[in-house]
Amino acid sequence: MSLLETKKLVKKFGGVRAVDHVDVRFEAGMLTGLIGPNGSGKTTLINTLTGLLPMDGGTVVVSDNVALHAVRPTSIATYGLTRTFQSVRLFEQMSVLDNLLVVLTERNVWGALFERHGKYHLDTAEDILKKVGLWEKHHELAGTLSYGQRKLLEIARAVSMRARVYFFDEPFAGLFPEMRKVVSAILHELRENGAAVVLVEHDMDLIRSLADYCYVLDSGTVIAEGAPEAVLKQANVIDAYLGK
Ligand SMILES: Nc1ncnc2c1ncn2[C@@H]1O[C@H](COP(=O)(O)OP(=O)(O)OP(=O)(O)O)[C@@H](O)[C@H]1O
Ligand SMILES: [Mg+2]
Repeated sequence: MSLLETKKLVKKFGGVRAVDHVDVRFEAGMLTGLIGPNGSGKTTLINTLTGLLPMDGGTVVVSDNVALHAVRPTSIATYGLTRTFQSVRLFEQMSVLDNLLVVLTERNVWGALFERHGKYHLDTAEDILKKVGLWEKHHELAGTLSYGQRKLLEIARAVSMRARVYFFDEPFAGLFPEMRKVVSAILHELRENGAAVVLVEHDMDLIRSLADYCYVLDSGTVIAEGAPEAVLKQANVIDAYLGK
């Protein structure tokens, strides 16, 4: 079952088509890799699908066959979409725990800081923080965490959204092996629970081991798609990487 699909999606920056008539499909219970050389349009595709950038053409079909010609950032939660950023975005001056509670309670920053939280939300936050190995740090300010811990907290925030489609933009980049294992386990679990998991990743061994299907982007267009093993052998895919 497709949870998100694009039809001839276009995103332009001036005269440059960063996303150029892209057709992709993200299925329930599948981990889909989004790969391609630097500047090929992976992040722009996610930015467009999550409403951070307005689209310039084409259609986005969300679940239940709703066809959209514009994705508003305020409505992405309604469509069950969530994401992480290539460069981490957190509330730096809030504690690790409050960074999660803001998402879990759908309150604004002030609400999360000053309102009392129900046990249910606290228990859920504790579960998720334990899963990413940050529970010991729950009282510390997000801004004091190491780079890897910050990435894990951002992933924890995405997971706590309980979405149907998760976009992870290079979640493994810069992580130590132990942290990589944690992230792999989380991606697996989301997939097993029936989410559509979309992974942008430059490490092809990770793509081979994690992805059920993958799309290769080059200059904003999909140049190959299919099972990772087969796709990564294709001459045009190898050329696209070597050409950069
Ligand atoms: N805000 C922007 N304004 C103008 N051009 C942009 C903007 N964001 C991206 N681009 C351009 O769009 C193209 C696609 O960039 P994008 O960041 O989506 O690539 P990417 O595949 O995510 O690359 P990387 O693997 O390096 O993260 C590039 O040519 C980039 O320079
Ligand atoms: Mg990118």
